[in-house]
Amino acid sequence: MSDILADGKAAGTAPSDGLAVLESQRSTAETFGIPLAVLAELTHRCPLQCPYCSNPIELDRGGSELTTEEWKKVLSELAEIGVLQIHFSGGEPTARKDLVELVQHATDVGLYSNLITSAVLLTKEKLSALADAGLCHVQISFQGNEPMVADRVAGLKNAHEKKIEAAKWTRELDLPLTVNAVMHRQNLHQLQDIIQMAVDLDADRLEVANVQYYGWALKNRAALMPTLEQIEESSRIVEEAATRLKGILAIDYVVPDYYALRPKKCMGGWGRQFFNISPAGKVLPCHAAESITGLEFESVRSNHSIAWIWQHSEAFNRYRGTGWMKEPCKSCEFREIDFGGCRCQAFALTGDAGNTDPACTLSPRHEEIFKQAEREAAAHQDRFLYRNFAGGTLETEGEHGA
Ligand code: SF4
Ligand code: FES
Repeated sequence: MSDILADGKAAGTAPSDGLAVLESQRSTAETFGIPLAVLAELTHRCPLQCPYCSNPIELDRGGSELTTEEWKKVLSELAEIGVLQIHFSGGEPTARKDLVELVQHATDVGLYSNLITSAVLLTKEKLSALADAGLCHVQISFQGNEPMVADRVAGLKNAHEKKIEAAKWTRELDLPLTVNAVMHRQNLHQLQDIIQMAVDLDADRLEVANVQYYGWALKNRAALMPTLEQIEESSRIVEEAATRLKGILAIDYVVPDYYALRPKKCMGGWGRQFFNISPAGKVLPCHAAESITGLEFESVRSNHSIAWIWQHSEAFNRYRGTGWMKEPCKSCEFREIDFGGCRCQAFALTGDAGNTDPACTLSPRHEEIFKQAEREAAAHQDRFLYRNFAGGTLETEGEHGA
């Protein structure tokens, strides 16, 4: 291990105390502007077919995935450059047979590890083996608070029941639990019950994440877009619950930016605070970055180090900072606050990732796109296009029961 790691990590701190390290210690990664936490998308394979999946439409096939040894090398390199936390994600990370080995390696090199999972492939034995390997935190996604809605959204029977079971095992093993609830028009009516479900499952944290519309979610926008009334009501519910449950459950709330005045500071700004590594080893500024055509992303399989890719590669520098901006962002007082919003959304909705994100009211495209979304929300076209390797399968008519 390099001097960087020796200097950067807290001596004598157990790997399982990784979160404490993040909160209390300064990593040398900061010196180089390298993020402290990285998302490792181990695979795009997944038994679920959520219509808002954040994976690209063109999914990486199993055969192109990094091998166990390649992932281990990546984990070691991340630790060496001062990264402190690794989020194992997918697709479904537990679809990888080597997950326990990868978690063990993350522990060995001093990374705090978080498993972001649908949980449907977990058994108590597997979770126990992951805990023994040093897994520090589990985040389970829920599609609703009961099987009828949740299994339909996930496109998998009995998924909800399995998730509940896995969440209980997580707490029995004394692992901290985050419940991740992705919200949209067809499950927002369950928000109050989802909050109670998170309390009943003894979760530390609940993420109420309204769908963001790119990739699969953009294809399903008409079926997912909430109404303005729903958003107002859910904001009220979250506000009330956050006060009532203070000290019991922390609640993070992400609003759909179509209903905000200004766009979200996506990824904290392109190439500023975040990168992820795709199943095939591409180092990406965000999980949807490959949807932007014309950008070449470097791979961990190339001759370049991850630190070089982060600092010097063309794709990371293209939209870094504010120098690339056109009007209205260029002279806007908020340009250092939201960095022009989301590059992927700008590309998906305007065809140019260098344009202002149309979620911004100052974008010349905002009104037209917002009005279209509003019409879609009112039209109640409820059938999903399920995510899969075949480019999507439309839900059978009548199946949605709406
Ligand atoms: Fe942000 Fe650009 Fe809109 Fe200004 S014009 S608020 S910088 S997206
Ligand atoms: Fe790619 Fe926002 S999702 S920049």
